[in-house]
Parts: sequence; structure tokens; C-alpha cells
Amino acid sequence: MIFRQLFDSVSGTYTYLLASRRGGEALIIDPVIEKVDRYLKLIEELDLRLVKAVDTHLHADHITGLGALRDRTQCITVMGEQSKVDVVSMRIAEGDRLRVEGLSLDVLYTPGHTDDSYSFVLDDRVFTGDTLLIRGTGRTDFQNGDSRQQYESLQRLMRLPDETLVLPAHDYKGDTVSTIGEEKRFNPRLQVKDAEAYAALMASLNLSNPKMMDVAVPANMRQGLMQAEIARRGWAVSPTQAADLLGARDVMLVDLREPGERKKHGVIPGSLHAPYPDLRENLGPGGMLHELAASTGRPLLFYCAFGERSAMAVQAAQDSGLIGVRHIEGGIGAWAGAGLTVERSA
Ligand code: FE2
Repeated sequence: MIFRQLFDSVSGTYTYLLASRRGGEALIIDPVIEKVDRYLKLIEELDLRLVKAVDTHLHADHITGLGALRDRTQCITVMGEQSKVDVVSMRIAEGDRLRVEGLSLDVLYTPGHTDDSYSFVLDDRVFTGDTLLIRGTGRTDFQNGDSRQQYESLQRLMRLPDETLVLPAHDYKGDTVSTIGEEKRFNPRLQVKDAEAYAALMASLNLSNPKMMDVAVPANMRQGLMQAEIARRGWAVSPTQAADLLGARDVMLVDLREPGERKKHGVIPGSLHAPYPDLRENLGPGGMLHELAASTGRPLLFYCAFGERSAMAVQAAQDSGLIGVRHIEGGIGAWAGAGLTVERSA
């Protein structure tokens, strides 16, 4: 496995780059906007293809690199379903799996630092965001933080095997990695007897707000791709327009989501499946979508969860010379919101 822990000294943030092999798909956790050039250079040097950029939660102390990485690599942005970010490409929840080629991370909902805090378990290690830090825990006094909830989340993390490596989103003292067993014994925040005692401890901290908070939180809430630009070019249709086109059999509807998303959230009836990470291959000469559009004479109509992947796919399809390709603005989220039929049995 390729594993890199990268550091932003201004915000004390750790960013993690993961891939199963050289030349393979990569995932990045908690990227910082100022470091995006550095990440992209490393990704190129290691011959990786960035497929997903994930934030463990909506950060208050730095601006996320999610939007910039998506705009520069067309990767998928991922956050929890509770996040108050305007749009991400994919939302995850407790029990889901975060996958790239050769790697599958367990998704644990660990609220408390914020109401959208997640941890990710990959084999021998856990990425804890700001839920569990090395000899500390993330503050719980803003962004819908809740110290009792965090206590429960920490108890959950403590049930992982003692030797599990702990990889937090921040450190301000120079520590890089710990283990669950070590934190159980030596983390002062974990030496309390119950949730009440933990809440009292957290309430006594009297922390000042992060320097960047007034800038970072609003910026991090506006990460969505500008789907308006795609619409201005005439490459978007509303859910009801899409339903009319489908009814008239004027388009080939293509779902770009992952199998797990289709199973969990259902599909638009009559759609084909072509996951977004394979898009370039599928659009090229000889590729499935290329051939399909050519043989049926019906233009492609893409959709995904919220319209981000499909908007990027429209651009890629236009770039590869396919004509008349459009997408459903707002994805299946908007489709369901318009009261149109979603098939649950996929
Ligand atoms: Fe945080």
C-alpha cells in the first residue's frame, strides 16, 4: 500500500494520501487548500490517479482542498450526510464503505466534535479526524459539537483492537501517530469515568475560537461545483424535463454512481450503470458509452447523486467529441425531490 502523511504547519493539519499500488487509484483525506499543488505533484510522482477527496468533517481552522482538487483532477468529493456543505459529489453515512481500487475503508459516524464527524478504519489503522487526537480530543463547543456524543464516539473507537494505529486530523505538538491502546492508557481526556465527567472536563476548557473560523467555516460550506455553468451551455435538464425525454425514449440514461449508492438510494427506472471512475475508458473509442451512443443514435443523459459527477461527465463527453450529452441537474436527489419515481430494487 502507498501511504503518505502530509502536514500543513499553519493549521497543524495532517492530510493522508492512500493507494493500493503505484499507477492505481488514490484517496486523499482532509486536504488543505494551500497544499493542493504539493499533493498534485506527489500524486503525479507516484503515478497515481486521484479518485476521491474526503473530509472527516467540516473544518473550522483551515479551508478544505476538496473543491480545488475536484476542479483540477475531476475527482469525487465526499463528506458525511450531515455536513452543511452546499454540494459534494457523494455523501456517506455509518456502515458505508469508502472505496477506491484495492482499498475499502469502514465508515464510522463519530459525532461530538461536530455533528458531521466521521472516522475511517482501514485494516490496521483508523483515521480519527478531530474526534480522537494524540493525547487529546477535538473541542466540542461549536459547530453543533456535543461532548456527551463525543464520549460515546470515543468509547466506540476504544473498542478497536489496542494495536490499531491512530491517525488524527491534527497535531500541535509534533506527534504523528499513536495506537488505541496507548490512547486508552495515556490520553488525559479518556481517564474519566462517564459521559457526565467528560462533559464537565470539556466544559472547563474555555478555548478561544480558531483564528480562521470566520473565514474557513463559510468557505468550507460552499464547495459545490458550479453546475450553473454547465446549465448555461445547455447541457443540463431539470428532473421533469428528464422524465419527458425518457418517456419519449429520446435519450440513454446513465447512472454514474457506485453500486453501494444505487442499492441504498435506489435508481431512476430505465438507467444503465457506468461508474464515474471508469468514465474516460467508457467514453473513448471502443468504450461502452461511446459505442452505445453511436449504435442507438440516442444522446447520453447522465445522472449521479447530486449532479457533480454528472456535470463533470458531460464536460468529459463533450471533450471526447460526443454530441448532445446532458445531465440531470441536482442528480437523483433533485429527481426524488420532484416526486418522480425511484426504483428501490437495484
Ligand atoms: Fe475540526
